[in-house]
Amino acid sequence: MNKIVVNGGNKLVGEVEIGGSKNAALPILFAGILTGEVCIFSSLPRVSDVLLTLEILRALGARIRFVEGGDVVVDYATVRPAIPPIALTGAIRGSVYLLGAMLGRFGRACLGGVGGCDFGSRPIDQHLLGFAAMGAAEDADNGTLCLTAAKGLCAADIVLKMPSVGATANLLMAATAAEGKTVIRNAAAEPHVAALCDFLTAAGAKIAGQGTDVLTVFGKKPLHGCRFAIIPDMIEAGTYLAAAMATGGRVTVKNVVPTHLDAPLALLREMGATVTVGKTYVTLRAPAHYRALTVETGPYPAFPTDLHPQLAALFTIGRRATGTGRVVERVWRERFRYTEELAKMGAEVKIDGECAEFLPSRLLPATVRSPDLRGGIALLIAALSIKGRCEITNAATVGRGYEHLETKLRGIGADVRVLG
Ligand code: EPZ
Repeated sequence: MNKIVVNGGNKLVGEVEIGGSKNAALPILFAGILTGEVCIFSSLPRVSDVLLTLEILRALGARIRFVEGGDVVVDYATVRPAIPPIALTGAIRGSVYLLGAMLGRFGRACLGGVGGCDFGSRPIDQHLLGFAAMGAAEDADNGTLCLTAAKGLCAADIVLKMPSVGATANLLMAATAAEGKTVIRNAAAEPHVAALCDFLTAAGAKIAGQGTDVLTVFGKKPLHGCRFAIIPDMIEAGTYLAAAMATGGRVTVKNVVPTHLDAPLALLREMGATVTVGKTYVTLRAPAHYRALTVETGPYPAFPTDLHPQLAALFTIGRRATGTGRVVERVWRERFRYTEELAKMGAEVKIDGECAEFLPSRLLPATVRSPDLRGGIALLIAALSIKGRCEITNAATVGRGYEHLETKLRGIGADVRVLG
């Protein structure tokens, strides 16, 4: 996926089937290591971050089979306590989950590097403090971060400085192997963290407080293989709803958990959209013009940072938006790189620290470069609203998180081609 070519201006109308959540799939695939047995996953999205995760598992010795009907069978019995190639782990953020999973299974974990979208600094101090509290000592082996729990992991009472998704997931995994009761306070409550709890529970773990900010893990229960269905991707769903807004269209996203989208749906309604919610679907009918608003991102259930760029793109579309839009980015202060590219399309944006102001602008066709996953999809949303041809380069960044993007968009009337 090198380039996306968009001839925008078409109203998007129709239905989109939402796939499995990338940010649930990654920790769950790594958590499977703890079982040492066979796990069967359904609704695993075939996005590059997930495929790379499977490559990392294969490099560690796991046997992976794609079966007819879409399930993926992973046999973790043959996973070895090795260091996976940095070329693989350095390409995705999710590889950080190897720390909790390998520590839990083998008492030692080593990681050469992690990658992921570049939002400036992405520290893992909360992960490491939690591991240390559980008895894991840190050493560096030729630039490789290693953790060892020489006497086994012990239960701990951990208070996170912020509700970090990654730290919560990593510590949950390690805690399943720690003797006694581990409590994680100020834990992330994102649906994908709750999904990880569900997976670990299905594999035999005992966890209380799932979906809340206090998680309690009663460790050392024997884990076993299981079947697990990955939850729908709320960010993918929100992205298609934003695309409907950008084009004055009407789109139904199917196979979603509507409550996961409470904050984005409230905002879209406030902007003027008509939103209908069913048990597993959401329909959005866009108004001809919508109000730009102020939105502040935050940990779930607040408005998700992973939908911020898509929303900001809506604020810049002069054909549809009225008023000044503002985004206050509380999670990733440097998640504004996409605005330089939006500006190439004519968007007027002012950035001041973690706040950005967006004026409805006359957007024009342009060639722009995707800086990261959600920034790239925001550029695509802007392009869908522009009459004329736009090109988005560095589109592999978008392929990290959007499955069958071209097919899904064409299915609702977009003139889009994904090249390479
Ligand atoms: C996950 O990243 C997601 N990635 C991100 O999705 C998402 O934006 C983010 O959670 C927030 O929801 C995956 O699930 C693979 P965090 P993660 O730890 O776990 C600070 C997308 O577009 N922090 O919750 O890395 C950190 O700097 C992506 O799909 C520390 O200071 O995020 C940030 O400001 C990109 N120390 C905040 O906490 C730590 O030890 C939240 O980070 C950990 C985090």
